[in-house]
Amino acid sequence: MELKSDKEIESLRISGRLAAELLNAVCAKAEAGITTKELDIVAAQWIKEHDARPAFLNYKGYPAHICVSINEEVVHGIPSPRKLKVGDIVGIDVGLFYNGWCGDTARTISIGKISQTAEKLLRASESSLNKSIEKAIVNNRLGDVSNAMQRVAEENGYHVVENYGGHGIGRAMHEDPHVPCLGRAGTGMRLNSGLVLALEVMVNVGCREVSHKPDGWTVLTADGSLSAHFEHMVAIRSTGTEVLTII
Ligand code: MF3
Ligand code: CO
Ligand code: CO
Repeated sequence: MELKSDKEIESLRISGRLAAELLNAVCAKAEAGITTKELDIVAAQWIKEHDARPAFLNYKGYPAHICVSINEEVVHGIPSPRKLKVGDIVGIDVGLFYNGWCGDTARTISIGKISQTAEKLLRASESSLNKSIEKAIVNNRLGDVSNAMQRVAEENGYHVVENYGGHGIGRAMHEDPHVPCLGRAGTGMRLNSGLVLALEVMVNVGCREVSHKPDGWTVLTADGSLSAHFEHMVAIRSTGTEVLTII
């Protein structure tokens, strides 16, 4: 587990804030009628204008700058000619490198009026991530963080996804440790000062199982139920935990 110095965290604060600004810029354009490919172009231009580099493009062959996952798509939706429409929930995940440091953040937004189920899912998923951030403090364990995500989701009658999760982050987008969306409190590695994590929660209305689209990337809920994704980077330090992907 790589622990970051204060100076390194200062760099990650900058890349984290930039990723948050990029996410806002893309979300601001996400309305009924726009294609997800057009959102990808917005992101590509924004990244370029801010002297950053895309983190997702060509990552293991990924063909776009952002992931856009609609309704029953869990994560890793590839931008396409598909248009957003009123009632959709849309997970937007963005990543960039600035000055060699990665920023990675995601949230799920609504397009116009959405169903009550969808509203409730978004609220529950965001509070699941927020509760996990509260648990991401020095001397807690990784299982405390994962368990908080799972507990809030399940209290609301939902299920977290098993095979995807958050990760350490730094000069690389994906560093150790893997941070599952479910786990047992009091288990796992101890959280030490200097650990920087991208915490991610994926919550399904129905079963926790997922399937994959033939495109090799898009993850779907196995039962076709709605799914939401939220992600923030946090720097865990003895002086407190700081969310890096805010403005
Ligand atoms: N941003 C995703 C994550 O949160 C990773 C996307 S990889 C890609 O970890 F290749 F799909 F872009
Ligand atoms: Co991400
Ligand atoms: Co991530």
